[in-house]
Amino acid sequence: MKDYYVKDLKEKVGEEIDLKGWVYRKRRHGKLVFVVVRDSTGTVQTSIKKQNVPVESFEAAKVVDIEASIHVKGIVKEDARAPDGIEVECTEFLIISPSPDFPIQEDTSSEALLDIRHLTLRTTKARNIMQVKNGVIQAARDYFEEKGFNEVFPPIMVGVAGEGGGTLFSFDYFGQKAFLSQTAQLHLEASIFMFENVYSLTPSFRAEKSRTRRHLTEFGHIEAEMAWCDEECNEKIEEELVVYICNKIGEKYSDELRYFKQDPAYYHDMEPKFERITYDEAISIIQGKGLNIEFGSDLGYDEEKVLTEDFEYPFFVKNFPKDIKSFYMKQKGDRAICADLEAPGGYGEIIGGSQREDNLDMIIERLQKEGEDIKNYEWYLDLRRYGSVPHSGFGLGIERLVRWMLKLEHIRDACLFPRTPARIYP
Ligand code: 4AD
Ligand code: MG
Repeated sequence: MKDYYVKDLKEKVGEEIDLKGWVYRKRRHGKLVFVVVRDSTGTVQTSIKKQNVPVESFEAAKVVDIEASIHVKGIVKEDARAPDGIEVECTEFLIISPSPDFPIQEDTSSEALLDIRHLTLRTTKARNIMQVKNGVIQAARDYFEEKGFNEVFPPIMVGVAGEGGGTLFSFDYFGQKAFLSQTAQLHLEASIFMFENVYSLTPSFRAEKSRTRRHLTEFGHIEAEMAWCDEECNEKIEEELVVYICNKIGEKYSDELRYFKQDPAYYHDMEPKFERITYDEAISIIQGKGLNIEFGSDLGYDEEKVLTEDFEYPFFVKNFPKDIKSFYMKQKGDRAICADLEAPGGYGEIIGGSQREDNLDMIIERLQKEGEDIKNYEWYLDLRRYGSVPHSGFGLGIERLVRWMLKLEHIRDACLFPRTPARIYP
């Protein structure tokens, strides 16, 4: 590993340094070559003057390719003309490994960039997105840690559908049918009897052929489950978590936010007082915007787009009709005790949460209605048979959150290696 990085060079003016990284840009003016060096923390301009370096160094700088890995030695100089106010005057320039014809150009199309995602990860845009995503994950863990939650690692290979049979990826598990987990929820529910308040960060899988800007077949899922917690308590935790994450990103990643033309103050100053509207109110807002949606329908991509476009902050939509929601949600009359958190500006759902049904017979009835084999759910039903408690929980889609925060065109930009119906490569 390196002892210091590009970001540390500002503190080293006048010192002799060693820098390893990759060629970001290059220009030549006769006996002078400028190479902008990139590492994980930023870029810095280096100048290679023919009279200051060994012959081999100057020859190497002349021919070096974009994205070749290099090792330069030199002195850090203040230079008002350089982007960061410093420049490295080289005393030696070495190519570690060449990079002939690096395939990313200014005009490479977005599909072509996805085909070479393993190389696209080196771009400033990808780096900044992944930096914020890392910040989101760290902040979420910090929030749960401060609140006394325990992190658990639920299984990815499972025997039951947590979110309905329609979107399950199945595979053969030694002769038995198994699935990739759509949600950790059912296993988190079991874990509250040990820890009361638990959370997990897992990939979740949905075999959905939806080709929208917000659907992935594999996504990062932050899920939490709390014992002795009703719907208000659940919404409070969701709201606090999202605001905690936004505040941290606004504070720590202002450069990255500005790169995406986002105001860090919006995130930094956000407060946990999100608006709550009902499903019925949501339907009338959507109808008022001229969309043809009937009472009792679920909200899809287009509906949420118009619903959220005029809001300034995230908001909850509560009390969906029970028939369009999952089997495990607690019911009140014809409604489910649930809330989705919607991101404003047309982005739509980022969290789905609910209070869980505690009545054993109602869960069984619901599962049977959905054509599920009760045998597979016996373990889950045991949670209601032995010391059941009121409890609630939710799931936050990490890429959905990052997409909204950075206003990304497509959710796949928020993935290291996106998985969509049309893409499993690279
Ligand atoms: O609303 P969902 O389906 O809820 C659940 O899975 C619950 N069992 C979670 C829980 O209560 N523990 O999914 C939760 C969130 C959504 O709000 C969305 O942000 C994200 O997961 N999500 C997706 N993100 C990207 N691509 C998809 N196909 C997604 N499906 C859900
Ligand atoms: Mg949902």
